[in-house]
Amino acid sequence: MVKLDGLTTDQAAAVGTAGFTAAMSVNAIRAHGIGPSDGPILVTGATGGVGSLSVDLLGKLGYEVVASTGKPDIEPYLRDLGASAVIGRLPPEGGKIRPLDKARWAAVVDPVGGPTLAYALSTMKYGGIAAISGLAGSAELPTTVHPFILRGVTLAGIDSVQLPIDKRREVWRQLATELTPAHLGLLTSNISVLEVPDALRKIIGGGVTGRMRVVVKDGF
Ligand SMILES: NC(=O)c1ccc[n+]([C@@H]2O[C@H](COP(=O)([O-])OP(=O)(O)OC[C@H]3O[C@@H](n4cnc5c(N)ncnc54)[C@H](OP(=O)(O)O)[C@@H]3O)[C@@H](O)[C@H]2O)c1
Repeated sequence: MVKLDGLTTDQAAAVGTAGFTAAMSVNAIRAHGIGPSDGPILVTGATGGVGSLSVDLLGKLGYEVVASTGKPDIEPYLRDLGASAVIGRLPPEGGKIRPLDKARWAAVVDPVGGPTLAYALSTMKYGGIAAISGLAGSAELPTTVHPFILRGVTLAGIDSVQLPIDKRREVWRQLATELTPAHLGLLTSNISVLEVPDALRKIIGGGVTGRMRVVVKDGF
């Protein structure tokens, strides 16, 4: 195992694009001036790669993290990662998305999109920020202008792909120092190359939590 500037290659592989995206999301929240005393942070798609690592990083930084997941039996795992509370997917079943609803979140990390993001926006506190990175639920965003013009909510797009190299190096430096996830071992499992097809089927079926690291060895 090689250690490069604070991270082993195993750790860097476990962090991957999902962890990098989580770090960018957390940075957007911090740059917006939202600190742990400002209130709960909602993380959607919480058992996925971006979600799990966001729960971990935010918990490590002392934020109160509310993890939203479609896998309620995984609550102990999310609490171990750093969630203060675990709730179901949003909007709640049968729940309506109003232009504005009870203000709950100081910030949101959302890799899910669709009605989940629309609901999250309608329930943000005044001056909050939603760091949005994905479309695991849907690419649609069925919202209104109300959260933005009446609560001063900011929508921050997170793109890990085209980020310029100097900024990319800075995020990796953070991941190797203050933002090294606290529970990489817990949220990462190792699989062999031969196990990849089964793992992909499981991912598509929604039966996976956290990250899988493909360990390449002689003869697989
Ligand atoms: N912008 C970027 O630079 C960037 C970087 C990395 C990833 N992404 C994007 O971010 C998204 C998430 O990536 P990931 O690596 O975290 O994927 P992932 O590991 O598959 O996790 C996605 C999670 O979203 C939830 N989910 C899945 N289907 C859903 C649905 N129909 N409705 C609501 N929630 C659903 C599930 O969590 P629960 O079961 O816990 O609810 C799932 O574990 C993807 O769209 C990916 O393309 C973007």
